Amino acid sequence: MRCTFPLCLPLLFHVLLLSLFSIPFVSTVSIHAKKQSQLPNADLQPTTMAPSETEVLFKIMESMSSDQTWRVSYPNPCKPGSSWPGIECKPGSYNFLHVSRLDFGSSPNPTCKRTATFPSQIFTLPYLQSVFFFNCFTHTKTSLSFPPNSLSNSSLQQLSLRSNPALFGPIPPQISSLKSLQILTLSQNHFTGPIPVEIFSLTSLVHIDLSYNMLKGSIPTQVGNLISLVGLDLSYNSLTGSIPDTIGQLAMLQKLDLSSNSLVGSIPDSFEKLKFLVFLALSNNRLGGNFPKGLSKLQSLQYFIMDDNPMFITLPVELGMLVKLQELRLANSGYSGSIPPSLSMLMNLSTLSLQNNRLTGEIPMSFGSFSHIYHLNLSTNLLDGVVPFNANFLRRLGRNLDLHGNPGLCLSSAEAYSVKIGVGICSRNLSLSKPVKKSQAAPGLSYSFFLFGVLGVFSVLQISFLL
Ligand SMILES: *[C@@H]1O[C@H](CO)[C@@H](O)[C@H](O)[C@H]1NC(C)=O
Ligand SMILES: *[C@@H]1O[C@H](CO)[C@@H](O)[C@H](O)[C@H]1NC(C)=O
Ligand SMILES: *[C@@H]1O[C@H](CO)[C@@H](O)[C@H](O)[C@H]1NC(C)=O
Ligand SMILES: *[C@@H]1O[C@H](CO)[C@@H](O)[C@H](O)[C@H]1NC(C)=O
Repeated sequence: MRCTFPLCLPLLFHVLLLSLFSIPFVSTVSIHAKKQSQLPNADLQPTTMAPSETEVLFKIMESMSSDQTWRVSYPNPCKPGSSWPGIECKPGSYNFLHVSRLDFGSSPNPTCKRTATFPSQIFTLPYLQSVFFFNCFTHTKTSLSFPPNSLSNSSLQQLSLRSNPALFGPIPPQISSLKSLQILTLSQNHFTGPIPVEIFSLTSLVHIDLSYNMLKGSIPTQVGNLISLVGLDLSYNSLTGSIPDTIGQLAMLQKLDLSSNSLVGSIPDSFEKLKFLVFLALSNNRLGGNFPKGLSKLQSLQYFIMDDNPMFITLPVELGMLVKLQELRLANSGYSGSIPPSLSMLMNLSTLSLQNNRLTGEIPMSFGSFSHIYHLNLSTNLLDGVVPFNANFLRRLGRNLDLHGNPGLCLSSAEAYSVKIGVGICSRNLSLSKPVKKSQAAPGLSYSFFLFGVLGVFSVLQISFLL
């Protein structure tokens, strides 16, 4: 920028003002001023933008923010040392600076005014690489839109529109013109309609997050085209249909979250190919059927979160092969049969949630040696026998251990000091004997039946003493 008189005046004021407060900042400004005085010199870093690009930026800023009169207070948006907040610039062709990043919505970035609407001009800025609009479109209904013609030279790599309650309508298919896009975050808005298949032609995509919207329809099979995908989050929408097989082609996938939709069918067998999958969340759908045959091949899995599905099967032994698991949540899904002893191999578990199922039999003895466990919920099942945890274990988990609603479980009196885990104390002899199956009657009643069964060989006198 040439330092013409009217532009230099505010700069001088700045220097004077700042010299009173901030010594480091003054030094950068004065270096900068020195550089400017030497212009034009092709070797120096550029300090200004092409007027056409500046004008587009003013238009975007005026449609979004009323924090300042930007044209007056910041006539040169990219000016090193005093650029707009929330903007980043990079030098480019013809000794010009170009805007490379825009960040709106939360301090210290410009905040958005109530009438802010989506500025489709962002897609005409050819050097723009990242856009973040967070909590920005909150009052005036607006939609994600593209300018009418040619976007072939947008180099946008990251588009992040998050927590914008007034951003509604469909995700437009023109999104496929953003050929350089690597990260697409459209979470917590009011997007409706189907996921446009056009998204899945953007083969540079590494992360997609469309969570917390109102998207409908099924997950397109074309999702399998995005072979670079590392993260896919479609949770908290209204997606239907089954999970496409083609997700198994996403060989780089580390995080998959499809929770809280209305997906049906079973987990496709192709999932066994997801060798790098660390996080898998499928809770709160209508999934049923069996687990993939090759479940044990998911050797990177650390989080498997699949509560609230109508599974109605037994727990697969293969779960015990997923030795990196830290969280396993399979609550409220109709699982029956016993807890596979193989789960004892999950020595890194910190959370195990199996509550609200129909699990029977005893709690595996070895659960008591889980050294990282912090949260264990086995409540409301049909488990029985003696709780195999010592006083140390019970103390360590405290309120994070929940065994209530298993009428056949009991705690040996040695361990039962003050813990409230929802389990009664065993008769003194019980810990030595094999528990006996009992009916599912009301807890009080079944407890006496239970005692009766166990102590059946003893005299009535002894029983009445114990009761
Ligand atoms: C964008 O592309 C169009 C057509 O390819 C071209 O005419 C235009 O100059 C490009 N714009 C910039 C800023 O590169
Ligand atoms: C268990 O966790 C520890 C510490 O976090 C880690 O070093 C170890 O590799 C983990 N074990 C497995 C089997 O993942
Ligand atoms: C265990 O699960 C039940 C049922 O979902 C829940 O009410 C309870 O709070 C849980 N307990 C703990 C300790 O998290
Ligand atoms: C059960 O407890 C009673 C009373 O403590 C004791 O006399 C009896 O030997 C115990 N029976 C068994 C099988 O341990």
